[in-house]
Amino acid sequence: MMVCEYKPGLEGIPAAQSSISYVDGQKGILEYRGIRIEELAEKSTFLETAYLLIWGELPSQQELEAFEHEVLHHRRIKYRIRDMMKCFPESGHPMDALQASAAALGLFYSLRDLHNPAYIRDSVVRLIATIPTMVAAFQLMRKGNDPVRPRDDLGYSANFLYMLNEQEPDPLMARIFDICLILQVEHTMNASTFSARVTASTLTDPYAVVASAVGTLGGPLHGGANEEVIQMLDKIGSVENVRPYIEDCLQRKSKIMGFGHRVYKVKDPRATILQKLAEQLFEKFGYDKSYDIAQEMERVVEEKLGGKGIYPNVDFYSGLVYRKMGIPTDLFTPIFAIARVAGWLAHWKEQLAENRIFRPTQVYNGYHEVPYLPIDQR
Ligand code: ACO
Repeated sequence: MMVCEYKPGLEGIPAAQSSISYVDGQKGILEYRGIRIEELAEKSTFLETAYLLIWGELPSQQELEAFEHEVLHHRRIKYRIRDMMKCFPESGHPMDALQASAAALGLFYSLRDLHNPAYIRDSVVRLIATIPTMVAAFQLMRKGNDPVRPRDDLGYSANFLYMLNEQEPDPLMARIFDICLILQVEHTMNASTFSARVTASTLTDPYAVVASAVGTLGGPLHGGANEEVIQMLDKIGSVENVRPYIEDCLQRKSKIMGFGHRVYKVKDPRATILQKLAEQLFEKFGYDKSYDIAQEMERVVEEKLGGKGIYPNVDFYSGLVYRKMGIPTDLFTPIFAIARVAGWLAHWKEQLAENRIFRPTQVYNGYHEVPYLPIDQR
């Protein structure tokens, strides 16, 4: 058996062969199925991009309409799921609520007909359609309100914002939200996608796959960073405080949230697009002084850490965009999950097509032949 060097965090070790997305971390390029992210952000919609990722090609007009129609008609959640969510503590994190609710879907759709394209499509549609409803329902129920029913006359993103805020969103806001979902839908072999593929490789159901990926996305080193960015900007409070804050972080060797990436050694192309979207929102709906703080942070971090390839990642500006939309901070990561579910499902489908269960090895560095010591002698 070939002996490989142990790489913490599996850095540089391919975990799968995939044709879903591609990153060039030196040039700052991200492509979905070969199409540049900038082009999709300008011309596509979230549902069209989801279709592209999952089925490998851009849909025809007819295919897109059929997919949109199916998603539209699967947005409602069962009252039992809603009642289960009502029992969750209001103080619980919405990511935990989402993970539990996604897993609970598996109780209702327990058939695992993994070789049947109709089962795969049905699961894809159900998950993409219901995850936003579950996120919005938990948000309203934790405030003591009844959840709002989805509205059939609204598109995917507009409907989510409607269910969340109980009012129809401005069309620019809905479009910007949709672009944010496009930017967050997929990103090669990141931690949550790896988690999804490992779970998928056991041939369990897609609800367990998504629940496992949601759990992984929630951590502050992954999707949870966007929440921490906003808390950090608020804590810094003014442009003058930026430099001392960063110098203090560096001295304490603590990570500056929203900066750095395992793959990108230049500014994340998604951060560049999100920054422009934030500017559009500020222009129409009023300025956020945290943006000045963010820009100064970018300048100072580049000066101090640019040599190490540390630049803003996707999470740095997404929080500012979501906050301007009136979205509570602890929903930023669930929104990331609303987008990323389509990426996870694309990987689920790809994993099933050529499956082998994940079973890596380890480098054992413990003892051998240790005698059992009776309890009274320890
Ligand atoms: N602030 C300060 N220094 C940093 C940062 C940062 N945000 N990120 C990396 N570095 C430094 C490290 O201290 C290390 O320096 P050293 O070589 O002198 O010890 C070097 O850069 C390499 O850092 P690692 O932690 O080894 O890089 P890794 O690839 O393991 O981690 C990660 C990548 C987790 C994203 C890291 O950059 C980080 O923790 N960033 C902050 C959290 C964050 O924004 N996460 C969101 C990532 S995007 C996403 O998941 C959607």
